[in-house]
Amino acid sequence: MIPVSCGEIADAVRGELAGADPAAVVDGAVVIDSRAAGPGGLFVALPGEHVDGHDYVGTATSAGVTVSLTTRPVDGSPCIVVADTQQALGDLARLVVSRLPGLTVIGLTGSSGKTSTKDLIAQLIRPYGETVSPEGSFNNEIGHPLTALQVTETTKYLVAEMGARHMGDITYLTGITPPTIGLVLNVGTSHIGEFGSRDNIALAKGEMIEAVVPGGTAILNADDHRVAAMRSRTNERVLTFGEAPEADIRADGVKLDAEGRPAFSLHVGDYSGDVQLQFIGEHYVSNALAAAAVGSAVGMTGEQLVTGLNAATRMSAARMEVIERPDGVTIINDAFNANPDSMRAALKALVAIGRSRGARTWAVLGEMLELGDTSTDEHDAIGRLVVRLDVNRLVVVGEGAKPIHLGASLEGSWGNESMYLDSIPEALEVLRSELRAGDVVLVKSSKAAKLRSLADALLEDVQ
Ligand SMILES: Nc1ncnc2c1ncn2[C@@H]1O[C@H](COP(=O)(O)OP(=O)(O)OP(=O)(O)O)[C@@H](O)[C@H]1O
Ligand SMILES: [Mg+2]
Repeated sequence: MIPVSCGEIADAVRGELAGADPAAVVDGAVVIDSRAAGPGGLFVALPGEHVDGHDYVGTATSAGVTVSLTTRPVDGSPCIVVADTQQALGDLARLVVSRLPGLTVIGLTGSSGKTSTKDLIAQLIRPYGETVSPEGSFNNEIGHPLTALQVTETTKYLVAEMGARHMGDITYLTGITPPTIGLVLNVGTSHIGEFGSRDNIALAKGEMIEAVVPGGTAILNADDHRVAAMRSRTNERVLTFGEAPEADIRADGVKLDAEGRPAFSLHVGDYSGDVQLQFIGEHYVSNALAAAAVGSAVGMTGEQLVTGLNAATRMSAARMEVIERPDGVTIINDAFNANPDSMRAALKALVAIGRSRGARTWAVLGEMLELGDTSTDEHDAIGRLVVRLDVNRLVVVGEGAKPIHLGASLEGSWGNESMYLDSIPEALEVLRSELRAGDVVLVKSSKAAKLRSLADALLEDVQ
């Protein structure tokens, strides 16, 4: 962290010093795990589900932290005592970011593709300035401030993914790091159980656009009418991206190559150039355009955008990760998470790859969570889509995903092509005995349905 004294931190987080010297300086890492604590750092004692961070304050002190953020004094450890340590973590990040006026904050949200797009943006702009952008999601009240606290005087760009489960979540996060550039990717159906409707999801995501700072830029998806309509929520400059003819950053002629990777022509103002992405699936066109819009907003030329997009590769794991097993079976591991939009996109990519290779395709699908009342219908629709896309074999895993199997069985003339299995071990057994060289297997479910462990097991089978 940039050097800040305990006295200044206490002011910013509205805390009381307890055994801490106001002049002592924090200039090490801010951590929530005492095992990562080190000299000059700051330990935040968070209440956990199973453990209380306060039990580890002593360990952090021994590891050399300058001070800990706590809700009560801890004997023998310098502390700043606050009412709510999570809130204090946000306040501290806000203080640090406010001291770096040269920093460009790029905030992005959306129902799907935040992490993938965040990684793409970071790869595009990193050659033009030091960039902070963590691997993985880090998009909540804890991960976001921890990410923001990594910025220093030499950081030019902070690329921050922000997630929303409730109204006001994005406003809380943008309050910590007010976005110079605010981007909304799409409004889908993830967490619809929580929000009640897609329009409410749009309301929540649009908080990003309201937070864009004076002189900043709002970036909106022209192909998603709920996102395009967010234009009315800011007076700042708006840039749009998409395949729609009116988009400022536009793609046309989208094609998937034999590996399922999209190619397209990129148009930015008068410039046009050819892009060949290294990512699998048509949905990455939208992510790439969003990233190009950010690049354009920070001053990159059309040519620089094309060069950057062509070179970009996947950074965070289990998102359309294609692994060829030595025995000739190809696993598409997209098991990080799932919602109906990303399911559809992944299935289309599976079929594109299968078709180009003349391969047998398998969809191994688990439950999509947090869909509320729409859950059965959404699962049923995915089952029907699997049949319409002509995927060869469907393996549905777990009770919650059963309507996928039922939908597929009712659509067309499917019989044995679809299989329902109660558990991951049972599904593994079937796959182990039936997969053969040349097969292409997509594995996908929501995080909590844990198909990632199935994908891992399939990959460990043949090393
Ligand atoms: N533009 C997109 N539209 C639909 N699905 C997408 C898009 N981009 C990526 N995906 C898919 O969505 C899933 C999640 O991707 P990613 O982790 O990038 O999203 P996220 O929004 O960060 O998710 P989370 O809310 O869990 O952090 C992956 O299966 C990925 O392939
Ligand atoms: Mg994410």
